[in-house]
Amino acid sequence: MRSSPIKLSMTDKQAQDYAASIPFDRRLYRQDIEGSIAHTRMLAKQEIIAESEAEAIIKGLNSIRREIERGKFQFRTELEDIHMNIEARLFEKIGDVAGKLHTARSRNDQMALDLRLLVKEEIGKTIGTIKALQISLVELAQGNKDVIMPGYTHLQQAQPVLLAHHLLAYFEMFQRDKERFHDCLGRADFMPLGSGALAGVPYPIDREFVAQALGFSKVSNNSLDAVSDRDFIIEYEAAAAITMMHLSRLAEEFILWSSSEFGFIQIGEAFTTRSSIMPQKKNPDVTELARGKTGRVYGHLTAILTIMKSLPLAYNRDMQEDKEGLFDTVDTLQSSLEVFAGMLKAIEVNTGRIAQAMRTDYTLATDLADYLVKKGLPFRKAHSVIARLSEYAMSRGKTFKELGRKEYRDFSPLFAGDVYDITSESSVAARDVIGGTSPQQVAKALKRARRLLKK
Ligand code: ARG
Repeated sequence: MRSSPIKLSMTDKQAQDYAASIPFDRRLYRQDIEGSIAHTRMLAKQEIIAESEAEAIIKGLNSIRREIERGKFQFRTELEDIHMNIEARLFEKIGDVAGKLHTARSRNDQMALDLRLLVKEEIGKTIGTIKALQISLVELAQGNKDVIMPGYTHLQQAQPVLLAHHLLAYFEMFQRDKERFHDCLGRADFMPLGSGALAGVPYPIDREFVAQALGFSKVSNNSLDAVSDRDFIIEYEAAAAITMMHLSRLAEEFILWSSSEFGFIQIGEAFTTRSSIMPQKKNPDVTELARGKTGRVYGHLTAILTIMKSLPLAYNRDMQEDKEGLFDTVDTLQSSLEVFAGMLKAIEVNTGRIAQAMRTDYTLATDLADYLVKKGLPFRKAHSVIARLSEYAMSRGKTFKELGRKEYRDFSPLFAGDVYDITSESSVAARDVIGGTSPQQVAKALKRARRLLKK
């Protein structure tokens, strides 16, 4: 067995360990090999290396891939990173011809390629997972489409809304999240090979051929930019941070709603834990963890922005720090979305408790004001009448429904018997504007959601 002539790393063992990225960048082995194979094919096509040499290299690379996948590959820290580990093994397998693989290439453009391939792939998966979560949301909304709940502002009961309307608000957020990832995909979709270390390469290469072989629609326009920017990682992490923020708000609401104070929902047994000391408790751990992990994803975004902010062009070793945050963001986002999609299927809506929360019908105050407006009172006046009426009702522990005809008349002569027609049903039905909470609008929104999910 021949050993590789590659000797790059530091001789101080501690420094070597400190500098090695192989403990984490081994995750890029598939992209690295895929990129090397496309590069090798191009080198042969351009007659920069011989066809037979390309065949030997490709065969070697494929067998290295199999070794890695079977867990038979010996990753070595002294070889620093995934590129050198694979190349060194290639030498052992096919001898000196392995030395031709790195013609017209640098680890700088190679790493940029591997990362772009990974980000593109992960965006596809992320969009798919967000979609699965949206499907669960729509199902939950559909299954409870007639449930009216208190809508909140300042976490104070404000106006009645359909639970489905509330859930579909998240559908919209996740829809925009998918679009953000999609936009980010367009900017990640540049093939950087051919940039070399920083200035381009002095060989008659065919960059478009490599781009096509690897599924890129464009080649990068500036070699310095191509090897030294990581904006596509930052964008992925920013889009992930926003998605996690949305997920975290949903998590927070589920935590509140599943508390004994609210009692609006029950999270399935499979997604909660029991307290080790207080036997009555069921803890919504999954939702709490998603809320917590959101902080971690924000951290990665802040880290990569900070790593990049003062680097002179082109490549600097600082950029090796781009990977762990990216990988962890991918894993955290994916797993959070996946577990949430599953958990949504195990949510039980407690319509009794929601109806109970609606029993004190002060959320109808705006409707009462609108009633007086319809009878000719200016809105501001109507508002102050209802403010006084509400205070009166609350101080006597009565709901609006429980107030007598006479009590209403004491506040305004405009009140008639039809004031009792104001209910949470009439309240939501009245909000029949595009984007409003009326059953008709929500039915349309559900239809639209399902149509979008079919795409
Ligand atoms: N391990 C390096 C990284 O992750 C790969 C590129 C190294 N390039 C270099 N010129 N040392 O960024």
